[in-house]
Amino acid sequence: MTTLDSSQAPTLLRHNPLLKLWRTPVFNRVFNAALPYAPDPVRQWVERKRTLARKVDLQKLVSQRSRLVPESAFREVLARGLETLIARQGREAIGDYLEFGVYNGTSLTCMYRELKASGLDHVRLIGFDSFQGLPPDAHLEDEGRWRPGSCCSSLSLTTAVLEAENVDLSRVTLVPGWFRDTLNRDTINRHEMRRASVIMIDCDVYSAAKDALNFCAPLIDGHALLIFDEYWPHGLDGKLAGERRAFAEFLDEWGCFEAQSFGSYIRRSEAFLITRTF
Ligand SMILES: C[S@@+](CC[C@H](N)C(=O)[O-])C[C@H]1O[C@@H](n2cnc3c(N)ncnc32)[C@H](O)[C@@H]1O
Repeated sequence: MTTLDSSQAPTLLRHNPLLKLWRTPVFNRVFNAALPYAPDPVRQWVERKRTLARKVDLQKLVSQRSRLVPESAFREVLARGLETLIARQGREAIGDYLEFGVYNGTSLTCMYRELKASGLDHVRLIGFDSFQGLPPDAHLEDEGRWRPGSCCSSLSLTTAVLEAENVDLSRVTLVPGWFRDTLNRDTINRHEMRRASVIMIDCDVYSAAKDALNFCAPLIDGHALLIFDEYWPHGLDGKLAGERRAFAEFLDEWGCFEAQSFGSYIRRSEAFLITRTF
């Protein structure tokens, strides 16, 4: 069996002429067509090289990924939020962290680190995402602000990022799929969700944010920190749209929550301490 550590692998792939040839489109088609007729050892060798190449590609994507959330400023809001929640309802009452829009995991990693720093080892992190980017009809909302398929990170890439950041995956549940299919009672029961204490809405699009907020409503008990990453969407000049519109409607329609401003970590973001009043 080929064993390579991750630092060796890219160099070996770069310098292996046969693999370079195999990756050129014409030869790749010829090799692939001939492969089923090759003897077992050749096919096994190819499979090993393919697995290695996939690993190397993934590592490259992990190291070159974009970070959409400013880490230290975001962590500062989380730290303050956790402190406030602990002061108001005690450590044991802190429930799940729910994130709507995980992309490649920057904000989820920040929350993981902040929970560790606060010693809140019982809090689970549950992330919802299509892992296919923004929905196909995203351009029909919010005055055409969004591009369908943008902000796309596959489940395997996001998992690789979390692993590279030393996030304990046993504390993380990633729920792949479109919100309209995943945000339902079935999911609440399957993951035995009882209380959400910190909620990160980072799915940009109005309808997605609305689905996320409605999903969270029955899980907000007492207080929760609610964070919107794109509360003031760039290019919409303060119009009531996107996550802000979803939140305004949510407060109005449910009628049982009070929201208190909790600052922001970037110009377009906004955080709130939300309290169930009955
Ligand atoms: C701005 S990115 C999230 C950034 C992330 N919080 C980070 O730290 O990098 C928005 C994400 O929302 C997801 N998303 C938006 N609308 C969705 C929907 N209706 N269903 C599922 N995922 C959705 C996209 O797939 C994308 O990954």
